[in-house]
Amino acid sequence: MNFEAELKENVARVKTILRRYLPPEEGFQKTLLEAMNYSMLSGGKRLRPLMMLKTYEMYGGKSRVIEPFMAAIEMIHTHSLIHDDLPAMDNDEYRRGRKTTHVVYGEAMGILAGDGLLNYAYETASRAFEMEPDHPGLGEAFSILTRKTGIYGMIGGQSVDVELEGKKISREQLDFIYRLKTGALIEASLMVGAKLSGAPREDLALLEEIGTNIGLAFQIQDDILDVTGTLQMLGKPAKSDEKNHKTTYVTIKGLEQAREDVEEISEKALEGLGRLSCQDEFLRSLVTWLIHREN
Ligand code: IPE
Ligand code: IPE
Ligand code: MG
Ligand code: MG
Ligand code: MG
Repeated sequence: MNFEAELKENVARVKTILRRYLPPEEGFQKTLLEAMNYSMLSGGKRLRPLMMLKTYEMYGGKSRVIEPFMAAIEMIHTHSLIHDDLPAMDNDEYRRGRKTTHVVYGEAMGILAGDGLLNYAYETASRAFEMEPDHPGLGEAFSILTRKTGIYGMIGGQSVDVELEGKKISREQLDFIYRLKTGALIEASLMVGAKLSGAPREDLALLEEIGTNIGLAFQIQDDILDVTGTLQMLGKPAKSDEKNHKTTYVTIKGLEQAREDVEEISEKALEGLGRLSCQDEFLRSLVTWLIHREN
């Protein structure tokens, strides 16, 4: 099977799992639940749960204990997108090919849908403790998930990103923002997958570094697509960074250099993957495929 077909098949597997963990739309808070599911069921790439599952399986993981964590990381990521699009942040009207949650449900419900997903992510991940109470990796996996989401992870990165909007920023500040706002959830995906299948500790540290590099290349490519893409291609507005006066990797280094750096940083990630105690051809192909992604 070629990689694209394998990717499609694996994303379909991931989607089936995610669907099972969404809350039923009922009760007086039905609108909130609809708003949460609206955005979860739009067409995202599902990369984070996919990377989590593939890392889990690379180390021989075979049980369903990974599933609530896969659902949780996608809920956390979707929360970050809903809030990132709010008028107070990037103020964007499209996401995943549809009107953004706050446009459809109003700003208050958009804020609450983001909050709801963030909290429901932890409610969902905690179901793993009921599934396998004696699993030795659960506590640490849960702690990785929470840390990489919070003030020392994605949310911390988003805070510096908005604070420095419209300002000239140093390479060090830019690296910090990208490592946290985008890298952290990718690091978490790889690390949680590995932790739950009992990977050796040295591999966990290496996976964190690999996740940082995948995240950096991913965010630079996102910046490139913001300049070169269209709403049609991306499912979200192009030129959002320019509109918000963001200093990005592209504004600092230019498109050509940014493209070269996506390749070079992805090479570093591949080299890291090669040093792990287990290998997976699909993960390698995924990192290579991401270099030339168009959405
Ligand atoms: C978008 O992430 C936000 C960034 C970190 C750049 P994705 O490009 O993975 O978004 P979806 O999940 O496919 O919509
Ligand atoms: C945001 O980066 C990353 C998140 C944590 C949501 P961007 O603001 O560039 O993401 P997009 O381009 O809106 O998806
Ligand atoms: Mg943003
Ligand atoms: Mg944005
Ligand atoms: Mg962007």
